[in-house]
Amino acid sequence: MRKSILPTGKEKETFVREMFDSISPTYDKLNRIMTFRFDQTWRRRTLESLQLASGSLILDLACGTGDFVKMARQSGYRCIGADFSFGMLSHSQLSSDLVASDALNLSFATDSFDGVTCGFALRNFTELPPVFRELARVLKPRGRIGLLEVAQPSSRILRIGHQIYFNNMVPFIGGLLSDKEAYSYLPASVSYLPPTEAIVEMLVSSGFSDVSHRLLTTGAAQLFTATKV
Ligand SMILES: C[S@@+](CC[C@H](N)C(=O)[O-])C[C@H]1O[C@@H](n2cnc3c(N)ncnc32)[C@H](O)[C@@H]1O
Repeated sequence: MRKSILPTGKEKETFVREMFDSISPTYDKLNRIMTFRFDQTWRRRTLESLQLASGSLILDLACGTGDFVKMARQSGYRCIGADFSFGMLSHSQLSSDLVASDALNLSFATDSFDGVTCGFALRNFTELPPVFRELARVLKPRGRIGLLEVAQPSSRILRIGHQIYFNNMVPFIGGLLSDKEAYSYLPASVSYLPPTEAIVEMLVSSGFSDVSHRLLTTGAAQLFTATKV
Protein backbone atom coordinates (compact mmCIF):
# COMPACT_ATOMS: atom_id res chain seq x y z
CA MET A 1 0.00 0.00 0.00
CA ARG A 2 2.82 2.37 0.83
CA LYS A 3 5.99 3.28 -1.00
CA SER A 4 7.78 5.38 1.61
CA ILE A 5 6.99 5.62 5.29
CA LEU A 6 6.99 9.42 5.35
CA PRO A 7 6.12 10.85 1.93
CA THR A 8 5.98 14.60 1.29
CA GLY A 9 4.05 17.04 -0.91
CA LYS A 10 1.55 15.63 -3.39
CA GLU A 11 2.66 12.07 -2.63
CA LYS A 12 1.82 12.60 1.04
CA GLU A 13 -1.59 14.07 0.20
CA THR A 14 -2.53 11.05 -1.92
CA PHE A 15 -1.06 8.60 0.58
CA VAL A 16 -2.89 10.14 3.56
CA ARG A 17 -6.24 10.24 1.76
CA GLU A 18 -5.97 6.63 0.56
CA MET A 19 -4.76 5.43 3.96
CA PHE A 20 -7.71 6.99 5.82
CA ASP A 21 -10.10 5.67 3.16
CA SER A 22 -8.74 2.18 3.79
CA ILE A 23 -8.80 2.22 7.62
CA SER A 24 -12.10 4.09 7.91
CA PRO A 25 -14.31 1.01 8.62
CA THR A 26 -12.49 0.27 11.91
CA TYR A 27 -11.06 3.75 12.68
CA ASP A 28 -13.41 4.62 15.57
CA LYS A 29 -13.05 1.25 17.29
CA LEU A 30 -9.24 1.34 17.12
CA ASN A 31 -9.09 4.94 18.33
CA ARG A 32 -10.98 4.00 21.49
CA ILE A 33 -8.90 0.89 22.11
CA MET A 34 -5.51 2.51 21.45
CA THR A 35 -6.11 5.63 23.55
CA PHE A 36 -7.96 3.77 26.33
CA ARG A 37 -10.86 6.13 25.49
CA PHE A 38 -8.75 9.18 26.41
CA ASP A 39 -9.43 10.46 22.88
CA GLN A 40 -12.92 11.47 23.99
CA THR A 41 -11.61 13.20 27.13
CA TRP A 42 -9.14 15.18 24.99
CA ARG A 43 -11.88 16.17 22.52
CA ARG A 44 -14.00 17.41 25.43
CA ARG A 45 -11.09 19.46 26.78
CA THR A 46 -10.57 20.94 23.31
CA LEU A 47 -14.21 21.97 23.00
CA GLU A 48 -14.16 23.51 26.49
CA SER A 49 -10.99 25.43 25.64
CA LEU A 50 -12.84 27.36 22.93
CA GLN A 51 -14.95 29.07 25.64
CA LEU A 52 -17.75 29.77 23.18
CA ALA A 53 -21.41 30.44 23.95
CA SER A 54 -23.97 27.71 23.40
CA GLY A 55 -25.30 27.84 19.83
CA SER A 56 -21.98 29.05 18.39
CA LEU A 57 -21.11 27.68 14.95
CA ILE A 58 -18.03 25.45 14.90
CA LEU A 59 -16.10 23.93 12.02
CA ASP A 60 -14.44 20.64 12.83
CA LEU A 61 -11.54 20.46 10.41
CA ALA A 62 -10.38 17.00 9.27
CA CYS A 63 -13.44 15.62 11.04
CA GLY A 64 -12.86 12.00 10.05
CA THR A 65 -15.93 10.01 11.04
CA GLY A 66 -17.31 12.96 13.01
CA ASP A 67 -16.52 12.27 16.68
CA PHE A 68 -15.87 15.96 17.39
CA VAL A 69 -18.99 16.99 15.48
CA LYS A 70 -21.16 14.64 17.52
CA MET A 71 -19.66 15.82 20.81
CA ALA A 72 -19.93 19.50 19.85
CA ARG A 73 -23.62 19.09 19.07
CA GLN A 74 -24.20 17.25 22.34
CA SER A 75 -22.50 20.20 24.07
CA GLY A 76 -24.98 22.67 22.58
CA TYR A 77 -23.00 23.95 19.59
CA ARG A 78 -23.89 23.89 15.93
CA CYS A 79 -21.12 22.08 14.10
CA ILE A 80 -20.10 21.28 10.54
CA GLY A 81 -17.36 18.75 9.77
CA ALA A 82 -14.98 18.86 6.79
CA ASP A 83 -12.59 16.15 5.62
CA PHE A 84 -11.02 15.09 2.32
CA SER A 85 -11.40 11.31 2.86
CA PHE A 86 -14.70 10.06 1.45
CA GLY A 87 -14.11 6.79 3.31
CA MET A 88 -13.95 8.53 6.69
CA LEU A 89 -16.99 10.70 5.90
CA SER A 90 -19.03 7.74 4.68
CA HIS A 91 -18.32 5.74 7.86
CA SER A 92 -19.78 8.46 10.05
CA GLN A 93 -22.88 7.74 12.09
CA LEU A 94 -23.97 11.32 11.42
CA SER A 95 -26.34 11.97 8.56
CA SER A 96 -25.88 15.71 8.01
CA ASP A 97 -23.40 18.56 7.73
CA LEU A 98 -20.27 16.63 6.88
CA VAL A 99 -18.58 18.17 3.88
CA ALA A 100 -15.83 16.90 1.56
CA SER A 101 -13.26 19.69 1.61
CA ASP A 102 -9.48 20.11 1.59
CA ALA A 103 -7.99 21.91 4.60
CA LEU A 104 -5.66 23.86 2.31
CA ASN A 105 -8.56 25.23 0.27
CA LEU A 106 -11.70 25.23 2.37
CA SER A 107 -15.06 25.50 0.66
CA PHE A 108 -16.49 27.97 3.19
CA ALA A 109 -17.05 31.71 3.01
CA THR A 110 -14.77 34.14 4.82
CA ASP A 111 -15.84 35.03 8.41
CA SER A 112 -18.26 32.07 8.71
CA PHE A 113 -17.43 30.34 12.00
CA ASP A 114 -17.19 31.22 15.71
CA GLY A 115 -14.72 28.42 16.35
CA VAL A 116 -12.67 25.64 14.78
CA THR A 117 -11.63 22.32 16.27
CA CYS A 118 -9.15 19.95 14.67
CA GLY A 119 -8.25 16.54 16.09
CA PHE A 120 -5.09 14.53 15.36
CA ALA A 121 -4.69 15.95 11.86
CA LEU A 122 -1.87 18.53 12.00
CA ARG A 123 0.75 15.89 11.23
CA ASN A 124 -1.26 14.66 8.28
CA PHE A 125 -1.39 17.98 6.42
CA THR A 126 1.25 18.54 3.74
CA GLU A 127 1.91 22.05 5.11
CA LEU A 128 0.69 23.89 8.20
CA PRO A 129 0.89 27.63 7.34
CA PRO A 130 -1.66 27.46 4.45
CA VAL A 131 -4.04 25.51 6.71
CA PHE A 132 -3.69 28.08 9.51
CA ARG A 133 -4.31 30.91 7.03
CA GLU A 134 -7.47 29.13 5.84
CA LEU A 135 -8.63 28.83 9.45
CA ALA A 136 -8.05 32.54 10.00
CA ARG A 137 -10.00 33.28 6.82
CA VAL A 138 -13.11 31.22 7.64
CA LEU A 139 -13.24 32.38 11.29
CA LYS A 140 -15.08 35.51 12.38
CA PRO A 141 -12.94 38.14 14.13
CA ARG A 142 -12.24 36.96 17.72
CA GLY A 143 -13.07 33.41 16.59
CA ARG A 144 -11.33 30.64 18.49
CA ILE A 145 -9.37 27.55 17.50
CA GLY A 146 -8.54 24.38 19.43
CA LEU A 147 -6.01 22.12 17.71
CA LEU A 148 -5.56 18.71 19.33
CA GLU A 149 -2.63 16.44 18.50
CA VAL A 150 -0.71 13.52 19.91
CA ALA A 151 2.46 14.41 21.81
CA GLN A 152 5.32 12.88 23.75
CA PRO A 153 5.46 12.98 27.57
CA SER A 154 8.13 15.35 28.89
CA SER A 155 9.17 12.96 31.69
CA ARG A 156 11.91 10.60 30.44
CA ILE A 157 10.43 7.48 32.07
CA LEU A 158 6.94 8.17 30.73
CA ARG A 159 8.38 9.01 27.31
CA ILE A 160 10.14 5.64 27.06
CA GLY A 161 6.95 3.78 28.02
CA HIS A 162 4.95 5.91 25.62
CA GLN A 163 7.38 5.24 22.76
CA ILE A 164 7.31 1.50 23.35
CA TYR A 165 3.53 1.55 23.31
CA PHE A 166 3.14 3.96 20.39
CA ASN A 167 5.85 2.44 18.16
CA ASN A 168 5.24 -1.24 18.91
CA MET A 169 1.83 -1.90 20.41
CA VAL A 170 -0.10 0.47 18.13
CA PRO A 171 1.19 -1.20 14.90
CA PHE A 172 0.66 -4.62 16.48
CA ILE A 173 -2.97 -3.95 17.46
CA GLY A 174 -3.52 -2.16 14.14
CA GLY A 175 -2.20 -5.23 12.33
CA LEU A 176 -4.57 -7.52 14.21
CA LEU A 177 -7.68 -5.42 13.69
CA SER A 178 -6.98 -3.24 10.65
CA ASP A 179 -3.88 -2.40 8.56
CA LYS A 180 -0.42 -2.77 10.10
CA GLU A 181 1.23 -0.41 7.61
CA ALA A 182 -1.26 2.35 8.32
CA TYR A 183 -0.83 1.92 12.06
CA SER A 184 2.95 2.03 11.62
CA TYR A 185 2.63 5.30 9.70
CA LEU A 186 0.48 6.94 12.37
CA PRO A 187 3.14 6.82 15.15
CA ALA A 188 5.94 7.59 12.66
CA SER A 189 4.05 10.62 11.36
CA VAL A 190 4.64 12.43 14.67
CA SER A 191 8.03 13.37 13.24
CA TYR A 192 6.24 15.60 10.71
CA LEU A 193 5.23 17.90 13.56
CA PRO A 194 7.40 21.03 13.85
CA PRO A 195 8.58 22.01 17.34
CA THR A 196 5.95 23.66 19.54
CA GLU A 197 7.55 27.11 19.26
CA ALA A 198 7.51 26.87 15.46
CA ILE A 199 3.79 26.01 15.44
CA VAL A 200 3.09 28.92 17.79
CA GLU A 201 5.03 31.22 15.46
CA MET A 202 3.11 29.93 12.42
CA LEU A 203 -0.19 30.64 14.17
CA VAL A 204 0.88 34.18 15.04
CA SER A 205 2.05 34.82 11.44
CA SER A 206 -1.26 33.45 10.14
CA GLY A 207 -3.32 36.01 12.07
CA PHE A 208 -3.86 34.57 15.56
CA SER A 209 -3.19 36.01 19.00
CA ASP A 210 -3.45 34.64 22.58
CA VAL A 211 -1.75 31.48 21.35
CA SER A 212 -1.36 28.91 24.10
CA HIS A 213 -0.08 25.36 24.25
CA ARG A 214 -0.66 22.73 26.91
CA LEU A 215 0.03 19.05 27.37
CA LEU A 216 -2.82 16.71 28.29
CA THR A 217 -2.63 13.46 30.29
CA THR A 218 1.06 13.80 31.22
CA GLY A 219 1.95 14.64 27.63
CA ALA A 220 0.21 11.91 25.66
CA ALA A 221 -1.64 14.67 23.80
CA GLN A 222 -1.24 18.40 23.24
CA LEU A 223 -3.62 21.26 22.63
CA PHE A 224 -3.01 24.58 20.87
CA THR A 225 -5.60 27.31 21.38
CA ALA A 226 -5.68 30.77 19.83
CA THR A 227 -7.95 33.68 18.91
CA LYS A 228 -8.27 35.25 15.49
CA VAL A 229 -7.00 38.80 15.64
C1 LIG B 1 -6.19 10.92 12.52
S1 LIG B 1 -7.61 11.36 11.57
C2 LIG B 1 -8.51 12.34 12.74
C3 LIG B 1 -10.00 12.31 12.52
C4 LIG B 1 -10.80 13.09 13.55
N1 LIG B 1 -10.43 14.50 13.58
C5 LIG B 1 -10.66 12.52 14.94
O1 LIG B 1 -10.55 13.30 15.89
O2 LIG B 1 -10.74 11.30 15.10
C6 LIG B 1 -6.96 12.60 10.48
C7 LIG B 1 -7.98 13.07 9.47
O3 LIG B 1 -7.41 14.16 8.75
C8 LIG B 1 -7.95 14.11 7.44
N2 LIG B 1 -7.13 14.95 6.57
C9 LIG B 1 -5.79 14.87 6.36
N3 LIG B 1 -5.40 15.81 5.50
C10 LIG B 1 -6.50 16.52 5.15
C11 LIG B 1 -6.73 17.64 4.30
N4 LIG B 1 -5.73 18.21 3.62
N5 LIG B 1 -7.98 18.13 4.20
C12 LIG B 1 -8.99 17.55 4.89
N6 LIG B 1 -8.85 16.48 5.70
C13 LIG B 1 -7.61 15.97 5.84
C14 LIG B 1 -7.92 12.62 7.11
O4 LIG B 1 -8.73 12.30 6.02
C15 LIG B 1 -8.39 12.03 8.43
O5 LIG B 1 -9.78 11.84 8.46
